Amino acid sequence: MTLNNIEEIASFIVEDGKGILAADESNPTCGKRFDSIGVESTEENRRDYREMLFRSKGMNGNIGGVILFDETIRQTSEDGTLLRDLILNQGALPGIKVDKGLQPIEDCPGETVTIGLDGLDERLKEYASMEAKFTKWRAVINIGDGIPTDKCIDANMQALANYAKCAQDNGMVPIVEPEVLMDGEHSIDDCYAATDRSLKSLFAHLEKNDINIKGTLLKPNMVTSGKDSNDQAGIDEVATKTLECLIKNVPVELPGITFLSGGQSDVLATAHLDAMNKIGGFSWKLSFSYGRALQAAALKAWSGKPENVFISQDELSHRAEMNKLASLGQWEEELEDR
Ligand code: 13P
Repeated sequence: MTLNNIEEIASFIVEDGKGILAADESNPTCGKRFDSIGVESTEENRRDYREMLFRSKGMNGNIGGVILFDETIRQTSEDGTLLRDLILNQGALPGIKVDKGLQPIEDCPGETVTIGLDGLDERLKEYASMEAKFTKWRAVINIGDGIPTDKCIDANMQALANYAKCAQDNGMVPIVEPEVLMDGEHSIDDCYAATDRSLKSLFAHLEKNDINIKGTLLKPNMVTSGKDSNDQAGIDEVATKTLECLIKNVPVELPGITFLSGGQSDVLATAHLDAMNKIGGFSWKLSFSYGRALQAAALKAWSGKPENVFISQDELSHRAEMNKLASLGQWEEELEDR
């Protein structure tokens, strides 16, 4: 594939219903995932697991990009092939998470700002030399008593805009991820309000920083009820409120919106995406950049045992295919019965 600039790269990733596999769990997060299946989080086990994912048949044609963690972009598979080359061989592009995690904000209890701007330019230059074509930075917004504050939203969206500038200056597509967390008992309307404020602030900062929107991807949360709310919004309400919030805030020239799954079950994340694409009426591609919702079934099926590799790959392939169909508005629940 010949991609000449960030606009072509961004469009390629979400072309024809394709989406992104988020496999950029930090080592501590990967440790938590491995704990759930009783596997020790060693460098070799992390390599084996990701090698298995990247060799899955269903990567091809359904996945346009894979987000990696620093360790993985440098790793080689058992037979000596770089893991990032496995991704390229599947017709997908390797990308890299470049933020350095969360830091509490002074005088804002319960809120954090994402750090990692120090030394970012040097890190990006190295990643570009390792064939990374796109990058990701995740900001986290909590909903709670009196939060999110304007101070938290502003600090996080400013950092996202500064990161995006640096990524584009280095010829890589920035994925800007302002994640309003599902944690809590809040209503879907509280989630709408926090998402609306965050997106408004984000696009104002991106404009101020002269970001090329055509060479950018947005990775937002969907507008949902809080995880612990007793009043869970249904699929249609999530789809209509998410679309309303996005249409209100996201410039039409953005090539793609790739949702995070944020703790939704895998099938529900697919159903929500499909419902939005069936409604339609927007200019961007509406696709996925799921971590847990693509990997959960594959992780469980694998359970660290080499004899489970094929059934695990089959699980990932299935979810990738289902989500591609959802990105085209062509998923049906019956397709989940296998
Ligand atoms: P989830 O889909 O599991 O939320 O992960 C996506 C991601 O990359 C979070 O930063």
